[in-house]
Amino acid sequence: MNPETQFTQQVVCITGAGHGIGLAIARAFGEADARVCVNDIVAERAYGALATLQAAGIPAMAHVGDVGNEQDVRALFAAIDQQWGRVDILINNAGIEPVHSILDHPLCDWQRTLDTNLTGTFLCTQQAALRMKAQGQGVIINIASIAGKSQPLYLRSAYAASKAGQVGFTKEAARELAAYGIRVNAVCPGVIITPMTERLRNDAAQMQRWQAEIPLRRLGTADEVAALCLWLASDAASYVTGVAWHVDGGKNMA
Ligand SMILES: NC(=O)c1ccc[n+]([C@@H]2O[C@H](COP(=O)([O-])OP(=O)(O)OC[C@H]3O[C@@H](n4cnc5c(N)ncnc54)[C@H](O)[C@@H]3O)[C@@H](O)[C@H]2O)c1
Repeated sequence: MNPETQFTQQVVCITGAGHGIGLAIARAFGEADARVCVNDIVAERAYGALATLQAAGIPAMAHVGDVGNEQDVRALFAAIDQQWGRVDILINNAGIEPVHSILDHPLCDWQRTLDTNLTGTFLCTQQAALRMKAQGQGVIINIASIAGKSQPLYLRSAYAASKAGQVGFTKEAARELAAYGIRVNAVCPGVIITPMTERLRNDAAQMQRWQAEIPLRRLGTADEVAALCLWLASDAASYVTGVAWHVDGGKNMA
């Protein structure tokens, strides 16, 4: 095991970690000796993830709540304070991706997407940064998307706007919070095999088009996103902040 990617005694909070990328990140940090808090808005997912982690011998806690709701976010961090008294790493992973044309996009879905993907990132960052400032260090990683940086999708305007917002927020947060020893980066996955992409993956024609445009000729796995997060959170990346990293098989090289 590489000592630089060991997180012994460190506390990691991962939002939207009931399944998919978030759960893979939780497992990866747990296997690297961290203590892990999984949040999810769906109680069965949060407690299912908790059971999975505990069965693997990982010290873990679960908290059910909506990252777009300030009271829920305060309660999440208060619960971590009570359980472990610190937070070293925050992964803003919770996200939703409604599919609508701009021409008839329901305002409620637009708002819910911005609340979850962007406001959730802000609210969790605020609570984590207050604690990390007091500790003198911390790492924040925002799971954005190629949709917010370099790759327009289709019929996902709210999603793209929220993810572009996350990338902008990442740079602003990195600039401001560096003074307190807090590093902030974004991770921009391409198409990753998770429940979120099930509909796309079931469309054979669309899948063929996508894969043909990916230099590595395949979709990514949640473990491959987790591996980048592990590196970004580690001391091996101690001089790295304010960057939005692609993990997309080479689809976007800018
Ligand atoms: N899967 C991909 O191809 C892909 C690509 C680029 C970016 N991403 C991003 O990665 C992150 C994880 O994606 P995924 O594929 O694992 O998604 P997913 O839909 O499989 O899982 C997302 C999880 O977030 C939870 N969640 C939703 N709203 C929430 C809220 N308000 N508060 C707390 N939890 C909430 C859901 O219950 C779910 O468990 C998202 O931010 C997504 O936008 C995914």
